[in-house]
Amino acid sequence: MKQIVKEQKLGFVATVDANGRPSVSPKGTFFVLDDEQLIFADLRSPQTIKNLKNKPWLEVNFVDQFSRKGFRAKGRAEIFERSSSEFDKLITIFDEWPEFKDMIKNIIKVQITSAKIVASPDYEIGVSESELRAEYLEYFKSIQP
Ligand SMILES: Cc1cc2nc3c(=O)[nH]c(=O)nc-3n(C[C@H](O)[C@H](O)[C@H](O)COP(=O)(O)O)c2cc1C
Repeated sequence: MKQIVKEQKLGFVATVDANGRPSVSPKGTFFVLDDEQLIFADLRSPQTIKNLKNKPWLEVNFVDQFSRKGFRAKGRAEIFERSSSEFDKLITIFDEWPEFKDMIKNIIKVQITSAKIVASPDYEIGVSESELRAEYLEYFKSIQP
């Protein structure tokens, strides 16, 4: 699972608004902190931040589009504003994106409480990972403009 986050970086974050309605949005800034914690950057995610301030629980999904495998994790978010000392510690993780560092408004640390692998039904009908990788590599190449 950690490898998927490291490679993909893109997770779809589900939160719940004040009326109990779901809201899902992509975040491409995920990093693994340790076995139980992930972080992502709030560059422009006003609704996600509003929802998490009200209800800190989220679910995040990561999928490798080539192996057609991923995982879904539930967790509790903590939001660190730019002025906080924890923000100053965590911001160094984003050194590889100097062009975005100044735009980061908050850093969200997610304490994972459960995580489950998700895999395409292709695996149930006997298709192998290498076959899927080859198929989807070709497919994604074929849809490039
Ligand atoms: C591929 C992709 C990656 C993104 N990564 C991030 C991110 O890491 N942080 C962020 O704040 N917004 C990111 N965005 C933009 C937000 O998803 C977008 O502004 C969204 O409308 C925010 O919705 P929200 O206010 O409901 O969170 C990304 C968008 C895309 C398409």
